[in-house]
Amino acid sequence: MTEPIIIRGGRVVDPARRFDATADVLVEDGHVTGVRDGIAADGAHEIDARSLIVAPGFVDVHTHLRDPGLEYKEDIGSGTRAAARGGFTTVCAMPNTQPAMDTRATVEYVLRKAAAEALVRVLPIGAVSRERAGTALVEYGDLAEAGCIAFSDDGAPVADATLMRRALEYASAFVRPIIDHCEDPVLAHDAVMHEGWVSTRLGLRGAPAAAEATMVERDIALAEATGGHVHIAHVSTRAGVDAVRRGKARGVRVTAEVTPHHLTLTDEVVAFGAAGGEALLYETNAKVNPPLRSPNDVEACIEGLADGTIDCVATDHAPHAVIEKLCEFDDAAFGISGLETAFGLCMRLVHDGRLDLATLIERMTAGPVRALGLDRVAPGIGTLMDGGPADIVLLDPERRWTVDPQRFASKGTNTPLGGIELRGAVLATIAGGVVVYAQEAARV
Ligand code: DOR
Repeated sequence: MTEPIIIRGGRVVDPARRFDATADVLVEDGHVTGVRDGIAADGAHEIDARSLIVAPGFVDVHTHLRDPGLEYKEDIGSGTRAAARGGFTTVCAMPNTQPAMDTRATVEYVLRKAAAEALVRVLPIGAVSRERAGTALVEYGDLAEAGCIAFSDDGAPVADATLMRRALEYASAFVRPIIDHCEDPVLAHDAVMHEGWVSTRLGLRGAPAAAEATMVERDIALAEATGGHVHIAHVSTRAGVDAVRRGKARGVRVTAEVTPHHLTLTDEVVAFGAAGGEALLYETNAKVNPPLRSPNDVEACIEGLADGTIDCVATDHAPHAVIEKLCEFDDAAFGISGLETAFGLCMRLVHDGRLDLATLIERMTAGPVRALGLDRVAPGIGTLMDGGPADIVLLDPERRWTVDPQRFASKGTNTPLGGIELRGAVLATIAGGVVVYAQEAARV
């Protein structure tokens, strides 16, 4: 028995229950046991949340924890510490590890290590194909039973349409989605950034937006044909968003996510950095796949997130070692370390009047849970309903802070946002009733 906690006087935003009002939140024995005004509980530890937002802990459906095998980039301990700092209380771990998460043994390793070292809940995603090689299917029933909440070869697309068709059929027998990294490898053709005037100016090989859109269209057609559920990872183009919108309108089981960086940064960041300027930087920390796109694509992603075409924000947290970015652009690894900047970066949309705060919170809590059906495996996450896990985040939407990658909990300092000021901060994170992160300014 841990002592009860009362989170006092915050604006409680719980989109799953359409609750948005000033209230106290009572936490007992790791669970939420009341959300209402004027809660009294003898001997409870009080947290003063006046002037703060109190929301369900964020849920990230796309996190690269790099464990097993790539612990020099990240491990379950450091990755979940980064998650806690970012306000995330559940992360779904991508299977492009070494070995890939394509067997029960690897999934059990991840869950065992998470039970020992993770600060927040870790839900594993199994590979679609053995060794993520794109040829033979994994054992879907076995991996679902071991705890996989979805299947993905992320980092690579499921390029073979027949394999994708079979994957959708098998996974749906276990009520699991296939998460696809949509990129036609022939069209993308070893590109290192988005194809447009910036790639021309830099002399770098660009991937056309159509490389994403054609595969999104293919996946939607296959989901329609099989009745399976496809979840489009990190959608980044107007054509991709439009395809999802049309698929949903037809009743296809398609869901989608977008990253904070695709909502806020364009391909110009590759050339000039996130602070802008005249000098050509060839910013390897902005090298990511899918690439940062044009302003028109960013606009479409924001519209899609606002109107619900895109179900959720997902970080695609992709930590890499310094040496993998401190090199020529062509040789640098793809990926942005994103857990710790996700909320602050997305708050740009709120401060710019593009998205209201409650919608942003929805897309980081109830949205991802609904998109992937996570409440089947982790009932009550993404909301503050009575009896659910006390996964809670305290947010200050106005607090300004400057991104300092050297202070990240993640081993991955690879962000183009170093030195950039963000407005909107996570002040404290509570996971299962335990304070797993608190800034000094938080009155916890
Ligand atoms: O930029 C990326 N990094 N995109 C991916 O799809 C994979 C990821 C990684 O694992 O580094």
